Amino acid sequence: MADPINTRCDLMMFGALGDLAQRKLFPAMYQLERAGLLHKGTRILAIARNKADSSEVRKTLLGKLKEHVRKDEFDAGVAEQFLQRVDYQFLDFTNPDGYGVLNDWRSKEPSNLIVYMATPPAMYGEISRNLRGNNCCDQNTRVVVEKPIGHDLESSKVINDELGEVYNEDQLFRIDHYLGKETVQNLIALRFANNLFASQWDQNHISHVEISVAESVGIEGRWGYFDKAGQVRDMVQNHLLQLLCLIAMDPPSDLSADSIRNEKVKVLKAMRRITPDMMDTHVVRGQYTAGTSGGKPVPGYLEEEGAARGSKTETFVALKAEIDNWRWSGVPFYIRTGKRLPEKLSQIIIHFKPAPHYIFDPDQKHLANNKLIIRLQPDEGMSLQILTKDQGLDKGMRLRQGPLELTFSETFETDRIPDAYERLLWEVMKGNQYLFVRRDEVEHAWQWVDQIMRNWDDSGVPPKRYAAGTWGPVASIAMITRDGRSWYEDA
Ligand code: BG6
Repeated sequence: MADPINTRCDLMMFGALGDLAQRKLFPAMYQLERAGLLHKGTRILAIARNKADSSEVRKTLLGKLKEHVRKDEFDAGVAEQFLQRVDYQFLDFTNPDGYGVLNDWRSKEPSNLIVYMATPPAMYGEISRNLRGNNCCDQNTRVVVEKPIGHDLESSKVINDELGEVYNEDQLFRIDHYLGKETVQNLIALRFANNLFASQWDQNHISHVEISVAESVGIEGRWGYFDKAGQVRDMVQNHLLQLLCLIAMDPPSDLSADSIRNEKVKVLKAMRRITPDMMDTHVVRGQYTAGTSGGKPVPGYLEEEGAARGSKTETFVALKAEIDNWRWSGVPFYIRTGKRLPEKLSQIIIHFKPAPHYIFDPDQKHLANNKLIIRLQPDEGMSLQILTKDQGLDKGMRLRQGPLELTFSETFETDRIPDAYERLLWEVMKGNQYLFVRRDEVEHAWQWVDQIMRNWDDSGVPPKRYAAGTWGPVASIAMITRDGRSWYEDA
């Protein structure tokens, strides 16, 4: 990272005792402190509905930092210094009369006010109105909100309208934490700083693209939330479509937030709608049954704690997405994501077309395609699979596929890759919106996924089963095999 932020910030964090704040937000702020990036006057007001005082809350936060910060990155002195910035305020979010105390806390020095709503999205409107009603925010306040923004297009409009009543779009920082991941930002550098790729990035040279975001975890005690959402709402509508946009978008004219977001919106608008007659060939939904994870037996989705019988919620989805524009016509984007898959792995594979005329042994033709493998996590890096001649007199012109490998941690000797939230909080403090999602992006993404979910509702077809610890239903393999291709791991 670079220079410290040179303006002080007053950060009000609603939902400060919740899971997100304690697992991600405070540890990220601690890391910014450790890196010396916070302005010395920056303060945090932790706001929640539990009756407690500041010193109790600091103690709780210290415990959580110890739990969630890597041991070799935990420094008691830094933690102490960081927690001195934190005050606690009990507040009933629904009671407008309680908000006045927030003004008393504000710094008397000029500072940027940041309101972070780590609360259920249903509260965003009410909190915003109460803040405005008590003059706790103005046109310079920056407001950070988390996904999910709604559960479909209509409900997302309601939330966005409520936010829009109080704030302008340039005050809103909608988080998609995938955009804060270093390797995701690297997609922009890879594509637009390397002319080598820029000239090859279209349907003339690329045959298809794979985006896989696999998780080995199940739903981790979140049945109540997850069963209403499912993998399409939880992962595809946001993280996977954002990845797709970064791969597919045209070059922005500069790195400003709106230039980038305008290009992403064009991609979302060009995505072909998946109509009912395409469901069999373009969509597979799955739900895990009992199996194994990390060598241990694990229950199926319907046997998880709090589960209701007969749920049709998907824990896996594989999709064939198509983009109807000049650049991508005829290039499918195969997307898959699921819980309880064999490993945690997010990667994008760009499959290039073979050379126009093949002159080597026909039995090696299957090797003929170059691939660019972009590993988002773990083991962040890239690998370009190229063909060379096999070594040795006896090998003739036998071909061999091998990688041009770039593992970020080794090549750049970075001791740590910052967590997405460190980057995102830092950008909010600097007032940069380019890693945040604009309203129209959210809405176009909902529009595309809504029709898939509507088709499922209309057909009533249940999800296909897959055993925990496998790569999803076999139908997802059939989906890509029908096109004469295979998922990268199966290749
Ligand atoms: C969240 C989803 O947005 O992303 C979770 O709600 C999911 O269900 C998580 O597990 C995955 O994020 P990451 O950074 O671990 O890949």
